[in-house]
Parts: sequence; structure tokens; C-alpha cells
Amino acid sequence: MKNYIEIKKIINPFNKKIEISGDKSISIRCVLLASQAIGKSKIYNLLESEDVISALKSISKLGIKYKKFKDYYEIYGYGISGYKTDKKVTINAGNSGTLARLILGLLVNSNKQIKLIGDKSLSRRDFSRVTDPLKLFGANIISRNNFLPVKISGSKFLRPISFFEKLGSAQCKSSVMLAAIKTPGKTYIKAKKSRNHTEILFKYLNIPIQISKKKTYDIIEIEGPSNFKGFEYNVPGDISSSAFFLVLTLLSSNSKITLKNININDSRIGIIKILNKMNAKITFVNKRNYKGEIVADIIVKSRKKLKSINCPVGLNSSAIDEFLIIFLVAAKAKGISTFRNLSELNKKESPRLELASKILNQIGIKFTRDGDNIKIHGNPDIKLNGKYIIKNFMKDHRVFMMSCIAALSFGGKWKINNIDSINTSFPLFLKTLKKLGAKII
Ligand code: S3P
Repeated sequence: MKNYIEIKKIINPFNKKIEISGDKSISIRCVLLASQAIGKSKIYNLLESEDVISALKSISKLGIKYKKFKDYYEIYGYGISGYKTDKKVTINAGNSGTLARLILGLLVNSNKQIKLIGDKSLSRRDFSRVTDPLKLFGANIISRNNFLPVKISGSKFLRPISFFEKLGSAQCKSSVMLAAIKTPGKTYIKAKKSRNHTEILFKYLNIPIQISKKKTYDIIEIEGPSNFKGFEYNVPGDISSSAFFLVLTLLSSNSKITLKNININDSRIGIIKILNKMNAKITFVNKRNYKGEIVADIIVKSRKKLKSINCPVGLNSSAIDEFLIIFLVAAKAKGISTFRNLSELNKKESPRLELASKILNQIGIKFTRDGDNIKIHGNPDIKLNGKYIIKNFMKDHRVFMMSCIAALSFGGKWKINNIDSINTSFPLFLKTLKKLGAKII
């Protein structure tokens, strides 16, 4: 079967209300926390993507049963010491950095050695950022130069740690937080601001946690060991998946979209703040609090005039997965946009700064890079009529989706490789585009 799509026409004006699949970060956290709860958890609107399915398969290898019903999953946990492994087990995190790094935190008390592997993309990502702090708890960890495979054997004598998370990585922060719930005493984390879904879930589950918020970092204290009961959760829509539709609407003509039930947690909406600074006028309606998360419907209309941005570094973490799609808006904005300190982007599923530079240069947009700082020379009249082939050699889902949005917004004849990649985070992406009227061959 062919594993590429072709797009040869920009999208016609549309006016639609749509739903977006469940949030990936929250889905993975729900699966992992439910696997450690006492008793049954019920998770509605769980994202059914490969990363989340890898999470379900991983807990199942650790002796946890789950069952799929029509619109929810049930997961049956046995508490924080409840993983049952009577022999050495290998778990495969596939493409998911979040799963791989978070589950290691839960394995600091495993009674057998667990081997963690992943796909080609995950195997080129650094694990020392989590294995270094987890070793301090007392876990025994062996790796191939800080890359996968990683072998972890837990300890019966865990000790709490003090950890300074400097990268602004929610994966590192969360991995340490998960280890802390197994560990007697108080774990102390000073963490540069990053998405805070784990903190919000801990509060909801009554896990003893204290957070004191400073301007650029948070102090988090967790008192372990702490068991918690099974729970019910309805996962809100994913802002990172929504981002592709926000930008498509913004860059198209005479269109409007309403995205329903989307998580608009402040630590995730860097994209909205950035696009609004570029003259987007994105609004939220029906704002409500759901178990500590903020959920709303998002409305955006096409905008003829977009402004360049000097992007505040303070927004980097809350827009970290959205920069590829934000770069497309900069490509059409008037003036030169600048983005700084984006080194983390090259450490994602593929070296995203390099790929963005290639794609933008391919479509005639000047993209210059000075270390981690980027300049994009926008062209408000951008209209393409050439042929563009996107190889997507690391099978990066966000590179695939960004290329589709470029094709549908700017024109030209595109061949974009690796349809499969969308299964990582948003299997319904192409179906949703077609609902808006996109012609995809
Ligand atoms: C995630 C954190 C971010 C993000 C990833 C999901 C999470 O990674 O890029 O897609 O769910 O914690 P980092 O923690 O490495 O920044």
C-alpha cells in the first residue's frame, strides 16, 4: 500500500465545528497512573494513537489488565507496588518519549530487571536526562551510552532526592514525580516551567503534593509513599493536534473553525499567545474547569494580515510541540520573525529545526539559523506552484502534518511521505481535513 499522499489544490473556504481527539500527554499519564491506582479506573475519550497503545501494551506486560469498551477503557491497578513481573520483561515504548521517560519513573521499585526499547527515532534520543535523577533514588540503571535500550532494576530501599530540572522538560519532571510517589519521605523538585498535567492529576488523586509557583520555575514537594484509588477521567481534546487546524484556518481565505472541548491549560497555549501576537484573534468560549484542567471551545477565523513576531523565550516551553506549524504562519507574516533558544526542538522525534529549515527553504522562504536562534523572512503574498517532495526520513508525525497544512494553504503540487506517522498522535488527522473539504489523494 502506498505510504504517501498527494495534495494538488489549496482548500476551499470552510465554516465548521469539529472535535479533536484526546490529549496525548494526558492520555499517557492517565494510563500510567491508572496502572498504579488501587482498583478500577475508567478513562473516557482516551486518545487511540500508537503512543497511547504502546502505554497500554507496556502496562499489560507489567501484569496490569485493561479492557476496551465502546467509549472508555477500564484499567485494573493493584497500587504503587502492584506491577507483577516474575521474569525479565521487555517493554517497547515505540515512538513515545513521554511513555519511555515516565514509565522509567514508575519502575524504580520493580522487583525484576525491565528492559526498555523503542523505535529508531526514540533510540537516538538522550535518556540521561531521566536516568541520572532516577539513579539517585536508588534504582539500578544500565544503558547504551545514555540511549535505549535501557535496563532498570528497582530498589527496595528508595531514598527521596532533590532535583533541579533545568531543561523545562515535563517528561523529566514527571518521571521524577512518579518515582517520588513510591519513595518514603519528601522529594523536592525545582523545575523550570513546563506542562503541568502530572501535578494537576496528583492533586485530583489526593497524592500529597505541594507546589509553590515562582516566575520561571516551580518548587514541587511530594511526600511518599502514597497509594491512591482508581479514578474516572474524561480526556479533553489535544491543543497540539488542534494547532494544525487553527493555522490552516488562519492561512486560508474566508474560513472559520470552532474546535470543541480543547484543553487550554496555560502551560500548553503558547501557540495561542504567539498567534494572537501575530494578529490572529483566536478566542475561547465555554471555558470551564475539569478536574483542575481548563477546557474550552476555540474559535478562529482566516486573517488577511499577519504580523511577524519577536517570540518571547518565556513562551518556548508552552509551545514546544507547535513551532513547526508556527513557522508556517511566520512564512506568511509581514516582516522578519525571530525565535530564540530552540535547541530542544532538535531533540524531538526528528531534528525539527533542520527539517523546518529544509521545508521552508524548499518553498522559497528564507529561514536562517544562528545556533538555536531562528529568523524567518515572511512573504504575505506567498503562493506556490512548484512541485514539493517531503521525504520525512525520521517518520515524524508533526513534520507530515505541517507539510499537509503548507500544501493546503500555499498551493503547489505536494507529495508527502509517511502517512503512517500520524498514527503516533492523531490517527484521525486526514479524515478531519477531508471533513473540511481538503482534496487529498
Ligand atoms: C511531553 C513533554 C514535551 C513534549 C512532548 C510531550 C509530555 O517533551 O515535547 O511531546 O507529555 O510530558 P519534553 O518534556 O522533552 O519537553
